[in-house]
Amino acid sequence: MDCVEGMKTEIESNSVDIIITSPPYNIGIKYNSHKDNMPFDKYLDWMEEFGKMCARVLKENGSLFFNIGDKASDEFRSFEVAQRIAKSLKLQNTIHWIKSVAVPEHNINIGHYKPINSDRFLNNLHEFIFHFTKTKKVKIDRLSIGVPYADKSNINRWKHGKSNGDKRDRGNIWYIPYDTVQSEKDHPASFPKKLPEMCIKLHGFNKNTIVLDPFLGSGTTCVVAKELGCKWIGFETDSKYAEISKEKLSQGRLAII
Ligand SMILES: C[S@@+](CC[C@H](N)C(=O)[O-])C[C@H]1O[C@@H](n2cnc3c(N)ncnc32)[C@H](O)[C@@H]1O
Repeated sequence: MDCVEGMKTEIESNSVDIIITSPPYNIGIKYNSHKDNMPFDKYLDWMEEFGKMCARVLKENGSLFFNIGDKASDEFRSFEVAQRIAKSLKLQNTIHWIKSVAVPEHNINIGHYKPINSDRFLNNLHEFIFHFTKTKKVKIDRLSIGVPYADKSNINRWKHGKSNGDKRDRGNIWYIPYDTVQSEKDHPASFPKKLPEMCIKLHGFNKNTIVLDPFLGSGTTCVVAKELGCKWIGFETDSKYAEISKEKLSQGRLAII
């Protein structure tokens, strides 16, 4: 069902720990049924309503990880959407999801993307993951997704280094390549499993953690939540995508509405 309606009528207020989602970006993606080209004002109003409902269902110390990308030719749109959601929630972190990086000076050339043909715009190799909370004071588990020190002499150099061993905060630049082809066939705009995995770990979780994806698509968020042993809920309006999700989740507790 429609997630705005669903979050209003099917979910108790203050009951969800983590929302991870990627809405339709309204940039003309060819979905099975959703029309991804509504007037931009209408789209913004919709996202504002969505933000209100996220604030309604999230617990006081809950997190919304809101993934959105732009066309290379218009990079203000993500911020306009984020500002509408910021009417109901506070922006605690801005994460850049990087899909491909080339640093020839260090022999790094990783990831892949669909190149655009343009003599004006650069290929757009990142998307945002806006981390919203109710208070901007929600504790996160930075080292759960930490990275090893490049220079091991730093392990004992910093006060916190000693107790944390060979792990440091990776910061807000997350390199996550797309999963291999299979999931792309399922759905035209699925995100890689690593993305919700990192969000759930960063927020912190246990077996009672409730994870919600209001725009479930092919089920990625719920599959990861299930694999991590969390509870999970998804909304999806398209019956074909909902079936794909149900199929993937068929061994677990089903709550796809
Ligand atoms: C960007 S995709 C999500 C992809 C998902 N993250 C994945 O990994 O498969 C957005 C999804 O939202 C669905 N959708 C569109 N309008 C909706 C609504 N009002 N309520 C719930 N789902 C909706 C679309 O059918 C589409 O599958």
